[in-house]
Amino acid sequence: MSTLTQSRAWLALKSHREALGGVRMTALFAADPQRFENFSLRQDGILLDYSKNLVNAETMQLLVALARERGVGDEMNRLFTGGIVNTSEMRPALHTALRSGQALIVDGTDLLPQIRATLARMRDFTGGVRTGSITGRSGKQFTDVVNIGIGGSHLGPALATRALAPYASGGPRVHYVSNVDAAAVEGTLAQLDPATTLVIIASKTFTTIETLTNAHLVRDWLRHVTGTAVGEQLVAVTANAQRAVDFGVAEDRVFPFWDWVGGRYSLWSAVGLPVALGVGMDNFDELLLGARAMDAHFRDAPFEQSMPVTLALLGVWYNNFFGAASHAILPYDESLALLPAHLQQLDMESSGKSITRDGEAVDCDTGAVIWGAPGTDAQHSFFQLLHQGTRLIPADFIAACRPHHAAHGSHAILLANFFAQTAALMNGAPKDGFPGNRPSNSILVDKLTPRTLGMLLALYEHKVFVQNTIWGVNAFDQPGVELGKRLASRILPELEGGDAVTAHDASTNGLINFYKANRDS
Ligand code: F6P
Repeated sequence: MSTLTQSRAWLALKSHREALGGVRMTALFAADPQRFENFSLRQDGILLDYSKNLVNAETMQLLVALARERGVGDEMNRLFTGGIVNTSEMRPALHTALRSGQALIVDGTDLLPQIRATLARMRDFTGGVRTGSITGRSGKQFTDVVNIGIGGSHLGPALATRALAPYASGGPRVHYVSNVDAAAVEGTLAQLDPATTLVIIASKTFTTIETLTNAHLVRDWLRHVTGTAVGEQLVAVTANAQRAVDFGVAEDRVFPFWDWVGGRYSLWSAVGLPVALGVGMDNFDELLLGARAMDAHFRDAPFEQSMPVTLALLGVWYNNFFGAASHAILPYDESLALLPAHLQQLDMESSGKSITRDGEAVDCDTGAVIWGAPGTDAQHSFFQLLHQGTRLIPADFIAACRPHHAAHGSHAILLANFFAQTAALMNGAPKDGFPGNRPSNSILVDKLTPRTLGMLLALYEHKVFVQNTIWGVNAFDQPGVELGKRLASRILPELEGGDAVTAHDASTNGLINFYKANRDS
């Protein structure tokens, strides 16, 4: 593939960007009375309004041409059909197969039977726990579930559990512990009765130190009530069944997780078990169906009409042609409070790369910093910088038209703020020192249901995929997180002895030795 920044489509975008100069969005609206209709997309109850962006029709055509030139269509085809899209680890990335309901033959094996069998086991198990036919040693119904996992084995499920709380009646309370800081595990366990607590250890590798450390603490806590046999209170979700069994999880309580599912794309697998325990398997199936609907839209819609492609192209536009280094995620919905954290892993672990799939250094910026928080709280913390700071920060505003509560007055205020903020970012008030002309996407869903949540999350998965395809980087590996892990395991034994540590750079030695001199003995 030609160097990205020397490609025909890239150079055309570069000249177009120069020609646009300081174009004002307000002028683009004035010139096109149909701009809202022309620059918005609707799909299954979701509206994406991208009219408040620094783009005109030609910009979008040139961006679509870039997507074509970079082979987004072929790569998408590889993604959906089990081709090797994770080129460094030489494997497919088949999160879409988890929700497709379709046969898919990879290396001569149809994946559908194992996916279906796992979903059936999840249905039996979640049904049993929710009705009380599956209990722990005490015979009492499980009242609480603790999911121990980190990264993809935590963020997606935690987000979904919180977002779908209105669907959780009749299920156990679901808690998440991820950080190896024992304050997290202790704070969670303090509220719980071990006799009625089910513990899920979610780890693709079953080697992640944070998860295993917390799993040992929780297993010890369970043993206080059950004697030594804790098997009935433990479940594992892993691709490494043997290690889970060695840890003490009964073999029939190990739910599989396959190496063709990336951690940050794993909500749709048995990693979603805590979600299904909380909201029931029918609602979990709806979540999968929502994602399936977004997959179909992504696969079938022309690029010009595709929500994920549009979001990705706008991301590339600001990242690479305006120098925008970050992107804000602003859910106007308290139940989506964990969406920025989930998208941080999804996007930044996927896009934080500076080497292409061909092993060359990239010749343009790749992943932006993803950050955000729910509105309206965020308006009272960092919005000042969005409005009047020196940096351009594109933002996605996300809300549901219909809330799950009955306080319609509050919801109207929430949404009035959403609309006001996107308008203020665009229009500004130049006389008063508000420059305006700051871009945003608005995503409105009819109601936040399992189905629309599934669509929303799949929308961002595909956005990330398209961006990485354009940049030529692998969205499905994360070698960068390994170095720190290796160093931590080297430093851990050094913390034990009394001797001063001298093996590292002066700063690291100094920090370690300060800690050793000051810790509790
Ligand atoms: O952060 C690195 C990472 O490998 C993630 O990709 C993954 O989701 C997380 O660690 C947890 O890994 P595991 O599920 O194997 O415990």
